[in-house]
Amino acid sequence: MTTDSSAEHTAIFISDCQHAFQNGQLQRLILSKYQGDEPELTRISVRPINLKSTALLSFLYEYRSRHVTKNMSIEDAVRLLHRWLGNDFNNAHLISTEWEIQLRFNKKGKALLNKHRNKTNNQTETQQHNREKNRFVEQSRPYLQALGITDQRAQIIPAMSRKWKQINRFIEVLAGAINTTGLATQKELHIADFGSGKAYLTFALHDYLHDQLHIPAQVTGVELRQELVDLCNKTAANLALEGIKFEQGDVQHFAAQHINVMIALHACDTATDHAIHMGIRSGANIIMCSPCCHKQIRPQLKSPALLAPLLQHGIHLGQEAEMLTDGLRALLLEAHGYDTKVFEFISLEHTSKNKMILAQKRRQPQDNSEVLQQIAGIKAFYGIQEHCLERLLQESA
Ligand SMILES: C[S@@+](CC[C@H](N)C(=O)[O-])C[C@H]1O[C@@H](n2cnc3c(N)ncnc32)[C@H](O)[C@@H]1O
Repeated sequence: MTTDSSAEHTAIFISDCQHAFQNGQLQRLILSKYQGDEPELTRISVRPINLKSTALLSFLYEYRSRHVTKNMSIEDAVRLLHRWLGNDFNNAHLISTEWEIQLRFNKKGKALLNKHRNKTNNQTETQQHNREKNRFVEQSRPYLQALGITDQRAQIIPAMSRKWKQINRFIEVLAGAINTTGLATQKELHIADFGSGKAYLTFALHDYLHDQLHIPAQVTGVELRQELVDLCNKTAANLALEGIKFEQGDVQHFAAQHINVMIALHACDTATDHAIHMGIRSGANIIMCSPCCHKQIRPQLKSPALLAPLLQHGIHLGQEAEMLTDGLRALLLEAHGYDTKVFEFISLEHTSKNKMILAQKRRQPQDNSEVLQQIAGIKAFYGIQEHCLERLLQESA
């Protein structure tokens, strides 16, 4: 449908927006061709959010060199649309689960309305299902596009679907831990991500804290490889993000100050021990690790006589070494004041990288003598001489 009665078309467009806002059908609203007074403002994109069970709209103001987010009620949003359309913005594009509607003002100020069914949405029930399953992260977040997880239409790029699943699961676990530890009420948080790599999870974490929890967190990614550090700092600058930076360094020598949340996901071998040690030393409230390769314990293992027939198979020995490395890490965290869980990170992905160690600092100290005895007993049983995290903790005691 294309018609030309300006006031009527603007009213239809706003009424359709209001309907989409109120019925949970909004996917995205984009206001562009800005001609108002705000210097450097290029466009505003609007998406639905839920804050403390209240349906709100998140307005992302995209300036040339930075982005600003403002959350608004539906009534305020409708009021602004009445004020802006045809005055400040000459183009508005609504995508709802049912409709795609474009309102354009030509040079003479005449409004043109184009409305058609959202076929993409009707055709892709699977996409909708996926969206519901992955509800922790919004597909339309700008960092996802900058990192190549989504395309220009905010759709997941098929080759990145595993990473997308991992990001969502990571935020889901972290959100739970932030809730239990009461960190959501803090005025500021300091986060360290050791072995940040290409920083998919670092950006996701920063976005979750800033955009959803509205906590002005300071996020630092620490990474050995300078080229990745440069790439990630450039991405943060392009997105005009505040409170995120990447530093070149080895976790072994990194001087950490006050850290509230320490994460180390897939940091190689004993880099995980150094990161956990750093987390414990700096009194982090949350320590979250997904260990990677496990090289230190395996050569030390002496198969106890009863287990020798099982551990004669290399694959079993590797699994046993992995379980012991991570099991001892969890017990050492318990002994140093943390409630600790070890669990599967992403279901149906059976790799050594699919394990999560989540430790949350106890509010009250607890007697650790029994755990220390358990650690000593397990080490003696398997003939383990040295566990990296234990040594680091002893050296710094
Ligand atoms: C497998 S990547 C994981 C990246 C990211 N954490 C993730 O899960 O997507 C591991 C990263 O850790 C970095 N790394 C390994 N040892 C490190 C160390 N001792 N200090 C800092 N970074 C380290 C590597 O360069 C690599 O980029």
